[in-house]
Amino acid sequence: MSGVRHLYVHLPFCAHRCGYCDFVTVVGREELHARYVDAVLAELDLERDLLAESLETVFLGGGTPTFTDGRQLRRLLESLPSAAEVTVEANPETVTPGLARLLRESGVTRVSLGAQSFQPDLLLVLERRAAPDVVRRAFYDLRDASFDNISLDLLHGIPGQSAAALELDIDQALALAPEHVSYYELEAKPGTRLTHAHGAELARQAEAMEGYYELIIERLTAAGYRWYETANFCLDPERVDGRDLRAHHNLAYWRGRDYLGLGIGAVSTLGHERRRNTPRLNAYLGALDRGERPERQVELLDELIRGQERVMLGLRLDTGLPLPAARGIVDEAVLARFERVGLARLRPALDGQDRLVLTPRGRRLGGAVTADLLV
Ligand SMILES: C[S@@+](CC[C@H](N)C(=O)[O-])C[C@H]1O[C@@H](n2cnc3c(N)ncnc32)[C@H](O)[C@@H]1O
Ligand code: SF4
Repeated sequence: MSGVRHLYVHLPFCAHRCGYCDFVTVVGREELHARYVDAVLAELDLERDLLAESLETVFLGGGTPTFTDGRQLRRLLESLPSAAEVTVEANPETVTPGLARLLRESGVTRVSLGAQSFQPDLLLVLERRAAPDVVRRAFYDLRDASFDNISLDLLHGIPGQSAAALELDIDQALALAPEHVSYYELEAKPGTRLTHAHGAELARQAEAMEGYYELIIERLTAAGYRWYETANFCLDPERVDGRDLRAHHNLAYWRGRDYLGLGIGAVSTLGHERRRNTPRLNAYLGALDRGERPERQVELLDELIRGQERVMLGLRLDTGLPLPAARGIVDEAVLARFERVGLARLRPALDGQDRLVLTPRGRRLGGAVTADLLV
């Protein structure tokens, strides 16, 4: 197997753990940042043969990649293969003019800024460290370093979030004119402080918040954003000299492409194998110190599972997926019914291959429609 064109690198360190997050993170441990970068580069060397000559995307996710010691972050970025799109996730409170320049000089083309909300009380509920002004200042620091592709990460469904507070968040996000917006619904992850403190409230408010997703889609599309994926929006190409501002790394996941993941907890999908690196920092560092691959779980994916994943992910996109990829995976009778009631349709494409797409109404219903379509 060779020719993987998408690389994910996990940088797990955070200044503190937000109460709603269950990602693989490590608080502090500044003394280990250099050793961690050594380990990631050693892992890259062990896996390099899997990668294509030239990569399409590199994504540094976290954790808080921009909390990593600046010299180590620069060394990592300068040692990774180059790619047309290089994204780094950044927390606002870590962004300074110097950090923004470092990212730019190290070949980063796109920054995904974790704003989450602009309302001080909601940021407190989330236990975020950046106040709204800090989010805005970080955004302008990135602009000043000439980043012309900035994504804002926002959350809806935060305990206590009123419809008016959501409108304010949307207004304040749009005022910054980001090229891209990811607007995810807050998930109550088992075992997190948020679920412990607000789980019951989240369940109670679910009904009141039903219209929030609809409102987000309406407001962002009215402001000239393309709703290209269930929770993702980018400026329409005609507003930005034809640039395709979709998140190309994530697009690779949604299209079912192979990708290589490095670092603790990182996932790779390579043909019929899904690998998940150990989330344990010491075990990971120890293995790579010895020149060995880290411990990892391997799951075998048969044709049916990969096919189902491709359909479920592809239908999140406004472009859907090529019809042949859905054959044998999608129930033809259900599809015909969904076409009749305006939830799905076949769209002829320029290459002559029909594509299966959900209509906007079908996309709003999302997972439920997709689940019914699978055989
Ligand atoms: C894991 S974070 C890493 C980037 C960065 N540290 C940050 O906080 O923005 C990536 C995204 O996942 C989101 N996230 C984490 N936990 C979540 C949850 N329980 N529900 C929805 N989104 C979540 C974060 O809000 C963030 O935008
Ligand atoms: S949400 Fe981001 S900053 Fe907060 S703990 Fe998770 S990875 Fe770290």
